[in-house]
Amino acid sequence: MVIGNENNHIDETEKLLKLVRKKPLPVHVAIIMDGNGRWAKKRGLHRIAGHRQGVETLRDVIKVSDELGIKHLTIFAFSTENWKRPVSEVNALIDLLVEYLRREVMELHSKNVKIVILGCLDAFSHSVQQEIKRAVELTSNNTGLNINIALNYGGRAEIIRAVKNIAKDVYDKKLSPDDIDEKLFGNYLYTANIPDPDLLIRTSGEFRISNFLLYQIAYTELVFTHSDILWPDFNKKAYLEAIIEYQSRQRRYGGINA
Ligand code: FPP
Repeated sequence: MVIGNENNHIDETEKLLKLVRKKPLPVHVAIIMDGNGRWAKKRGLHRIAGHRQGVETLRDVIKVSDELGIKHLTIFAFSTENWKRPVSEVNALIDLLVEYLRREVMELHSKNVKIVILGCLDAFSHSVQQEIKRAVELTSNNTGLNINIALNYGGRAEIIRAVKNIAKDVYDKKLSPDDIDEKLFGNYLYTANIPDPDLLIRTSGEFRISNFLLYQIAYTELVFTHSDILWPDFNKKAYLEAIIEYQSRQRRYGGINA
């Protein structure tokens, strides 16, 4: 019976939730939301329908992250390489983001959520930039969940940008080459003041990093879902399972266990 199945699903999710709360949670979860196109194709729909469904999944993941008290959720919304997609898909993705911000920002603000952008906004139209800046400014003093949206973001581009800015500051005598260490370098990245991700999740069975947070994931635990969990399929149960997998890992950071 469908009702019975649903109840079982709810029971199972509740059990997972209890398990998750027993062990330390990741402070920072980063997600590569992969598989929207395949989700749509499987259903004979246009790829954009997959992205639209992906936004619904994102909404649920934000809700669960907030409930759990996770501090940082970083999502790969649009990469520096995504410009290679057909213009219609690029425009649809940007429209979806703007629509999402317009529709949700007040509710996110009321939940004390802070929106941060990682990436270069210059490539977007004035009106898109205005919409994004409005959401960032409105929520800038919030102290709850931080949603870091990687937008026109690439890990290599981020590192090059940091190197250029450090070089400029050395040239301008604001810095000496001897000042450069990992901490200082981190402050020149888009993620300055954001701790490195504890957990990186990629859906859809692809085992790649795709230029996401290259510097920051040195000691991040990686969880890749099975290929039958495309981003729109990534529900609360799948999210909790990924966190439980993270909690089962021994993090040694190159050392050994005591
Ligand atoms: C990857 O799936 C997904 C993306 C490139 C975009 C993800 C964007 C969203 C979920 C919506 C917009 C974001 C916000 C913040 C509202 P894919 O298209 O590569 O899927 P495929 O590998 O199956 O083709």
